[in-house]
Amino acid sequence: MSAITATSEFSSEFQPQTLLLLSAAPKPHGFTGRMEETFLAHTPHNITVERVNLFEEAILSCRDCKACRHIDGCVLDHQDSCAGILSRALGAQYLAVSSPIYFLSYPAPLKAFCDRLQQYFTRKVLLGKPHPVLKRRRGVLLTCCGSQDPFGLQVMEKTTQMMFSCLNMDLAGTWALSGTDTAGLSQASDAQAHRQALRLWKNLQDPLANTQI
Ligand SMILES: Cc1cc2nc3c(=O)[nH]c(=O)nc-3n(C[C@H](O)[C@H](O)[C@H](O)COP(=O)(O)O)c2cc1C
Repeated sequence: MSAITATSEFSSEFQPQTLLLLSAAPKPHGFTGRMEETFLAHTPHNITVERVNLFEEAILSCRDCKACRHIDGCVLDHQDSCAGILSRALGAQYLAVSSPIYFLSYPAPLKAFCDRLQQYFTRKVLLGKPHPVLKRRRGVLLTCCGSQDPFGLQVMEKTTQMMFSCLNMDLAGTWALSGTDTAGLSQASDAQAHRQALRLWKNLQDPLANTQI
């Protein structure tokens, strides 16, 4: 598949009842990984889940070459796995992004993926073309940080809203766990974790729900 045809080969319709978990968990049993497992433990029976861990990919950085103003896609698409992941993100009805907060924002692998979505901003704003997925979809954010500083969470939510906008999605809910440097996901907080996971699934599936705790 050439870079030029990559985007135009995307389906204009997603697979119903599918969720892509786009993970930036650096380790399986860290806080992010455990939040993911709790979230997935509540997956409704009719939903199929796909997972991608961006720490296992080597996504090349957008250098603002501006080629996406002239071609349909990105010139880097044939050099790494980004186009395949994007195809899965466009093909899923729901998206969950999970990530710790690094220096108030995304870890490098997730930031690299996010920057590669610039092609959709160009497509819509500069070229005036419709998004390849016509129907607006919904996604959620699972995130954690060591401190109690709320600023990192604000940055994560804002950045995720921008990223989702490029995927023609709305951020339907966030589960944020702060203070991981000093307090863990203890037994005492298990019940709250399950409540958060259920809330995210409800927000994903019910367009009228957008509850935050
Ligand atoms: C490179 C790096 C940068 C970090 N930056 C922040 C930060 O800006 N704010 C914060 O509260 N915690 C920060 N942390 C702490 C992590 O967000 C925290 O340890 C989180 O629980 C890590 O997730 P994990 O357990 O899934 O690895 C940072 C950790 C690392 C390794």
